[in-house]
Amino acid sequence: MTATPGEPAYWQAVYDEGEPGWDRGAPAPPLERALGEFPLPRTGAALVPGCGFGHEALMLARLGYAVTAVDFAPAAIAGLRARAGAMPLTALERDLFSLGGDFSGGFDLVVEHTCFCAIPIERRGEYAALMAQLLRPEGWLLGLFYETDRGEGPPFCTTRGDVERHFLPFFEILHLSRPSDSFAGREGKEWLGLMRKRPA
Ligand SMILES: C[S@@+](CC[C@H](N)C(=O)[O-])C[C@H]1O[C@@H](n2cnc3c(N)ncnc32)[C@H](O)[C@@H]1O
Repeated sequence: MTATPGEPAYWQAVYDEGEPGWDRGAPAPPLERALGEFPLPRTGAALVPGCGFGHEALMLARLGYAVTAVDFAPAAIAGLRARAGAMPLTALERDLFSLGGDFSGGFDLVVEHTCFCAIPIERRGEYAALMAQLLRPEGWLLGLFYETDRGEGPPFCTTRGDVERHFLPFFEILHLSRPSDSFAGREGKEWLGLMRKRPA
């Protein structure tokens, strides 16, 4: 039976094929810039869901955040651990949808990069609710969302309307725009979002 994108075996198979097509070997420039420019907490606990090889997680750890990076593909977590070396960072091989029980309210900041477009579309509402649950009151979400020009996924196309529809029930969206510094090939296909969890 063929694995589906909701299962770790699907993603592990992509890693097993060699260099995953999404990996650029560095943090996404719009996220790196936003961490300096946006009014985010400069310290605290940060979560990177669907971290892959963890370039954003490593960037956050270098900036001094206490980072938890999560991915359910063993090769992703092995790749992150190899890159992290002695850098203090928690790399969890785990389904992000299982985090609600033990990590509720545990994070000041979520940094999302091509994770929302990787999960099955029918779980998007659940994902947005979970990110809010994992954040402390008035915690922050910084995301770079991928608007593909393809009908099939993953990556599953994420429009501005998709971001607003799923996150607005839980977050105030303070910024949502097309970045001008996307990786080559992703120009005009990304949405950079800054959100703050609504007070209860
Ligand atoms: C397109 S890749 C992006 C990786 C990384 N964020 C990046 O931009 O380089 C999506 C990642 O999300 C992971 N993923 C998808 N669904 C997941 C889930 N339910 N729990 C944990 N990881 C998941 C996959 O294993 C894969 O590594």
